[in-house]
Amino acid sequence: MRRAITITVLSTLAGLAQADNTNTFNCSNFLTFNGNQAQARDLLGTSKETLSWNWFNCLNQLAPNGLDRVWETMKPSDQVYLADGAKPTPYGTPFTPPEDVTKQAAKIAGMNLKRAFHNLNATQQVDGLTLEMGGAVPASQRGKPVRFQLLMSESTFDYIVDQGVYNMNGQDALTSDLNFPSTSWEVKAGWLWIGEDATYQAQLEKDGYYIAQAYYQNKDGTYEVGYAALTALHVINKLVTGWVWTTFENVNNHLYTVTNDIPSQPMTNSTGPTPAAVPVNTQFQGWYGNLSRYELIGTQLETSPKLLANSQLESAFQTQSSCFACHGTAAYSKNDGYFNFAQGGDAGQGGIVYPTEPVPASEFKGYNKLDYVWSLKRAQWQRP
Ligand code: HEC
Repeated sequence: MRRAITITVLSTLAGLAQADNTNTFNCSNFLTFNGNQAQARDLLGTSKETLSWNWFNCLNQLAPNGLDRVWETMKPSDQVYLADGAKPTPYGTPFTPPEDVTKQAAKIAGMNLKRAFHNLNATQQVDGLTLEMGGAVPASQRGKPVRFQLLMSESTFDYIVDQGVYNMNGQDALTSDLNFPSTSWEVKAGWLWIGEDATYQAQLEKDGYYIAQAYYQNKDGTYEVGYAALTALHVINKLVTGWVWTTFENVNNHLYTVTNDIPSQPMTNSTGPTPAAVPVNTQFQGWYGNLSRYELIGTQLETSPKLLANSQLESAFQTQSSCFACHGTAAYSKNDGYFNFAQGGDAGQGGIVYPTEPVPASEFKGYNKLDYVWSLKRAQWQRP
């Protein structure tokens, strides 16, 4: 009898869980909006936060290789904007990290040479500053910078190659504005460096961080190889002409990253989660256990909401962070180079101000607009 009741209770609970788990969003061709952009725009209009979470979940499904998450198999910017300005290899070309990296990786417990190795060279944020690790991080990591990388989808990449703008020569030769296809996606990911500290790694796993294999190059040319924990993910696509701006981060980031105040304080997000994101976070965190410690901070369409930032990627300038307004200044001029979005502070106070409203078209005389894609700044001149 006792057993029978238990089974009834269990199956009722299972039934409830099932009834609640009614997400019918189809991930199979989400990068091309399942061939139906009109429908995707409808969903965007109904709840942009729900659609953002569905995209985030789809991007975090296993890729066809069965080892990496979908977004990890996108093309990283360092394989697009090559140091010598050469034409990059086609999308999907297998990439082998430097030999020094694979050699070190072969000796590290649990590393799989078939899985992605993320090149985490970047530490300097848009404002020229870094975000420091602190708080609950091991002493060896304290004060060291959070690392990040940029990745792009096939449509984005193919357009950059077709337009020849993967190097400066191509951007300098532009005679009109760029206009990426509507199936373009881009990602910016923030990471805590773990290295080979298994105890620290276990702690971060417990706090719901996704762990990946990574490396970066030291100033002396040698490589660090180890594990890294995903703190942040910007996800954008061009479903609408002004792009859709979404950003996610781990709810525990304040435990591991600090402000540059003296004394430093836990780094927090001052722009969200937005009121609209809060209930959607609860719903999706319940559905997807592997993502349950990540939250959507918000989804920005044009200037709504006015400010949006990730505590890990726009750390110190969150109060002036508008994805749409700042990326809207992405432009290049033959005479003046890239458009400078850092404007002088008002009344000559010398502070730096970033745009939070669209910069008027009249300011872009002589520039070609780069369709919000600031990563193009990473392009190099072609060297023979
Ligand atoms: C003040 C300007 C500014 C703000 C605000 C800003 N970005 Fe960026 N963003 C940049 C620059 C510059 C780069 C190129 C960085 C690099 O090369 O390391 C970039 C890179 C990116 C990339 C990589 C692809 C690309 O277009 O270059 C994504 C994705 C991105 N940002 C999304 C966002 C989102 C989402 C927000 C808001 C939550 C945001 N950005 C806020 C300036 C900004």
